[in-house]
Amino acid sequence: MFQILKKESLAPQFKRYVIAAPEIARKHRAGQFVLVMLHEHGERIPLTIAGSDKEAGTITLVVQEVGKTTMEMGLMEEGDCLYAVVGPLGTPTHVERWGTVVCVGGGAGIAPLLPIAKAMKEAGNRVLSILGGRSRDLVILREEMAALSEEMWITTDDGSLGRKGLVTHALADVLASERPDYVVAVGPAVMMKAAAEMTRPLAIPTLCSLNTIMVDGTGMCGGCRVLVGGQPKFVCVDGPEFDAHQVDFDLLIKRLRTYLPQEQLAKQRFLESHQCVALEAAGGRV
Ligand SMILES: Cc1cc2nc3c(=O)[nH]c(=O)nc-3n(C[C@H](O)[C@H](O)[C@H](O)COP(=O)(O)OP(=O)(O)OC[C@H]3O[C@@H](n4cnc5c(N)ncnc54)[C@H](O)[C@@H]3O)c2cc1C
Ligand code: FES
Repeated sequence: MFQILKKESLAPQFKRYVIAAPEIARKHRAGQFVLVMLHEHGERIPLTIAGSDKEAGTITLVVQEVGKTTMEMGLMEEGDCLYAVVGPLGTPTHVERWGTVVCVGGGAGIAPLLPIAKAMKEAGNRVLSILGGRSRDLVILREEMAALSEEMWITTDDGSLGRKGLVTHALADVLASERPDYVVAVGPAVMMKAAAEMTRPLAIPTLCSLNTIMVDGTGMCGGCRVLVGGQPKFVCVDGPEFDAHQVDFDLLIKRLRTYLPQEQLAKQRFLESHQCVALEAAGGRV
């Protein structure tokens, strides 16, 4: 049983869960993820292990509610149990003492960035962080990232926190003032692509964490296939982290849009059914 021991709201649409999963907590290393099924008839969704506590036997997940399954998870409460949590999956982050590492996180990408930044710090690196989101509330895990960072910059699209603009604007400033040894970029595919194009001419090794559609998580279904250095790779077993200079981001972006109509329909049906439940509970006519 994978019981939700603690649930808290980090921001509108962002929730953090502490889940009882002793075996997964024991084996977890930075960069790995789990496949979660909420109930017997639910779909499987990949979620990064944002942290683990081996002593307590727990893992932490940070979830952005974007569609049917993540919204349904948002309705689960402390004491409820997830039907299945499979993992830890994926190849752990390759951590070295690079020197200065710039960690760039956009939106929900800050959740997978946190364990990577922690591992980089623990390996003795000087960690500089750049976090961004559409607005103030959506720049999550600021305190946790600040605790790991020598310096941290924040950007928001609307200027409600930090500098108005994109994380890549702040990255340009850092690259203009010094030459970091390593860059980690985690966020929307367009953001990771832009960061990779900035570090490529400077030949700064750059790591990204890819966010593909996944089904089985075992390298069998091909749902998470991407092109890296012209070679097909499976994000679930070969990744999720890759050399950002080698990733075909245009193909990734195209593949992420494949099921958009179906995803929107599932979300619409979920919202409609829950409106009915809410009306019924309120004694209204449905
Ligand atoms: C290795 C890995 C780790 C991940 N870790 C996290 C995490 O820690 N926290 C978190 O909130 N999410 C994470 N995700 C993304 C998460 O799996 C999706 O948001 C989730 O599957 C959406 O399911 P849904 O049914 O709610 O929405 P869907 O109906 O499947 O999608 C709704 C909309 O969200 C967008 N979307 C869906 N899936 C993705 C995706 N994989 N990447 C980018 N956009 C997507 C699309 O625009 C889509 O239309 C991770 C994905 C991968 C591959
Ligand atoms: S999710 Fe099926 S091959 Fe990766």
